Amino acid sequence: NENETWKLLLPVCVNAVMSVCAYGLTVRLIPRIKPMFVKANLYGVDMSKRSSGKVPEAIGVVTGCVFLVTMFIFIPVPFTDCIFSNVNFPHDKFVEFLAALLSICCMLLLGFADDVLDLRWRHKLLLPTVASLPLLMVYYVNFNSTIIIVPKPLRSWLGFSLDLWIFYYVYMGMLAVFCTNAINILAGINGLEVGQSLVIATSILVFNVVELFGSQWKAHQFSIYFMLPYITTSLALFKFNWYPSQVFVGDTFCYLSGMTFAVVGIIGHFSKTTLLFFIPQIINFLYSVPQLFHLVPCPRHRLPKYNEKMDKLEPSVTVFHKSELNVLGRLLMYIFKTFKLIKWQEDKGGIVTCNNLTLINFVLINAGPLKEPTLTSILLIIQIVSSMMAFVIRYPLASIFYDV
Ligand code: UD1
Ligand code: MG
Repeated sequence: NENETWKLLLPVCVNAVMSVCAYGLTVRLIPRIKPMFVKANLYGVDMSKRSSGKVPEAIGVVTGCVFLVTMFIFIPVPFTDCIFSNVNFPHDKFVEFLAALLSICCMLLLGFADDVLDLRWRHKLLLPTVASLPLLMVYYVNFNSTIIIVPKPLRSWLGFSLDLWIFYYVYMGMLAVFCTNAINILAGINGLEVGQSLVIATSILVFNVVELFGSQWKAHQFSIYFMLPYITTSLALFKFNWYPSQVFVGDTFCYLSGMTFAVVGIIGHFSKTTLLFFIPQIINFLYSVPQLFHLVPCPRHRLPKYNEKMDKLEPSVTVFHKSELNVLGRLLMYIFKTFKLIKWQEDKGGIVTCNNLTLINFVLINAGPLKEPTLTSILLIIQIVSSMMAFVIRYPLASIFYDV
């Protein structure tokens, strides 16, 4: 009925207006704040340019702060009726909202610490786990439902539903770790980090809008509150991070984004759908496994190699002696070679030159040297096509696995 629809849409409209303001603010703030970052020694060099000055790094902290402040101001809006009528105040919903913000805020702080201190790999796994704790605690208090519906083909073995117990919490913690780091390792060319995050966020938003008039509308409304300001502030960042980058987003932004997606997925109970929007990141992660687990030597930077003469990017490589690989490393590389997934050159002395195992380099070994903006565009198109596939999997194909 009309009253309900109004209740559904009014906060979303207020949120949308605030998000537009957040965009205006961020677009004005970034150029003004840039010199302060360079002065504070927070800058990097663009490795894919002939000459690059000091490019301010970790500007994700600016968009993150505007995003959070927007959300802080927004806090009372969805609860206005209850505040005035003072009955049936939904404390559970309220604490959910605050915990979500706390987790994102915590991730912003830890991500910024990573940018300033250049933390090591094991910390990168620890940080999102810590940041997701407030959220998991609220999940425990509010739902504590660790029962999952078993996909149809497996029901004859496992039954209709399965209690995952503590493992459900482990899964949610790992989701946060995966979302944050997966974005961070599909990076290194101008505009890619923000671009992919924007595609994922937009996909989540579309999914929420489609589901907004369904039975789970509250969860999707909640997610929209986060997605709108996230998208507008990131759009402002995209403007400055697109080729040629005037600013770098830093790990701050990658963590912030991943955490935001994990938070809405967990609280909104659509974490599997969220993961579906990460298909390129999952592929990039699986492809990277040999290097991430040091089965194959992994240099500090795996971003494509810049060819100054052509002003194009080429695959970057890792060079090692064949005997350096252990059994598992050899097996994995054998599989990759058989399926022609890598460019592997071996000389008589057993010295191997292999491309670094990233999706970016994979595109380059198949498409040949590319200009940087072309390469980013191709990767973003892959991201968009994957999202469309995700919708196909989520809607028509899901009926094979679940009663929807
Ligand atoms: C991750 C990747 C690393 C990749 C790096 C690029 C893994 C395990 N790690 O590391 O391989 O090289 O991201 O971000 O896959 N930069 C550019 N152009 C850009 C963006 C970044 O030249 O468009 C360079 C700048 O020098 C910048 C630096 O990358 O200062 C930032 O790297 P950082 O985010 O600290 O690297 P990691 O996230 O640790
Ligand atoms: Mg990074």
